[in-house]
Amino acid sequence: MKKILSAILAGAMLCTSAMMFSACGNKTESTADSKTESSAAEAKELHMATNAAFEPYEYKEGGEVVGIDAEIAKAVCDKLGCKLVIDDMDFDAIITAVTSGKADFGMAGMTVTDERKQSVDFTDSYTNAVQVIIVNEDDGKVAGKADLEGKTIGVQLGTTGDLYVSDDVKDAQVERFNKGADAVLALTQGKVDAVVIDNQPAKAFVAQNPGTKILEEDFANEEYAICLAKGSELTEKFNTALKELKDDGTIDTVIKKYIKD
Ligand code: ARG
Repeated sequence: MKKILSAILAGAMLCTSAMMFSACGNKTESTADSKTESSAAEAKELHMATNAAFEPYEYKEGGEVVGIDAEIAKAVCDKLGCKLVIDDMDFDAIITAVTSGKADFGMAGMTVTDERKQSVDFTDSYTNAVQVIIVNEDDGKVAGKADLEGKTIGVQLGTTGDLYVSDDVKDAQVERFNKGADAVLALTQGKVDAVVIDNQPAKAFVAQNPGTKILEEDFANEEYAICLAKGSELTEKFNTALKELKDDGTIDTVIKKYIKD
C-alpha cells in the first residue's frame, strides 16, 4: 500500500514539474486535473518575430525561413513543448511586435542594447558578433573607421549599425534601408560610400556583390540575444533551454553548420 501511494505521489510530482517546465500544452498528461489540457492536444504556438534577410542568422530558402536563429528557436521551442511559428517583418517592427504581444519573442541577430532593454527583456546571449564596414574594393575613400567622417553611409533601419553611425560618426549622412542587401546595392551603385552592418551578413553580401569588400577594422563588438516582453515568464524558461543547448553542444553545432571559418 505504502509503495503504491508513494508511486502515485512520485507520479504526481513528475507531472507537476513537467507542467511547470512546459510553457505550452503537455500532451502526455493523464491526471484528472489535466484532462482538459491534454485533450487540447495541439502544442501551443510560439510566434517569433524576425527579419529574414540576414544570412546566416535568418533568411529564406524556398519560401522557408532557415538559419542559425531559426534552428536555435526551433530547438528552444521543442524543449518547451511548443510549436515554432516564424513571422517575417521589417527589423524595426520586431520590438513593437513583441511589446504589443503580437509575437511571443523576437530573434533576429538582435544585439542587446541598453536602449532596447527599456522596452523588452533579453535572454542570456547565445552568440556574439561585430559591426564591420563594407566598401567598394577600389575606391579608396574609406580605409577605416576614421574615414567615415562626413561620408554617406548605408545602414539597415533601426539596427545598431544605424545607431552607431548616427550617434558616433561626425557629419555622417546616414542612408537607412529596410534591408541590408539594399544598402549594399546602393554601395555598388555608388550611392553610398560605405555600409556598416554585422560581420556574418556582411560576408554573405560581399560574396553576392563582387567588387565589394569588408574592411579589417571592426566597428563594435556585440552580443546577440532573444527579446521577450518585459516581465515575461518565458524568459527564464528560454534561458534554461538555451543553457541546456549550449551545454550539450547544440548551439555550437548549429553555428558551425552555417558559419564555416
Ligand atoms: N545586430 C544588429 C541589431 O541588433 C542588426 C540585426 C539585424 N537583423 C536582421 N535580422 N535584419 O541591431
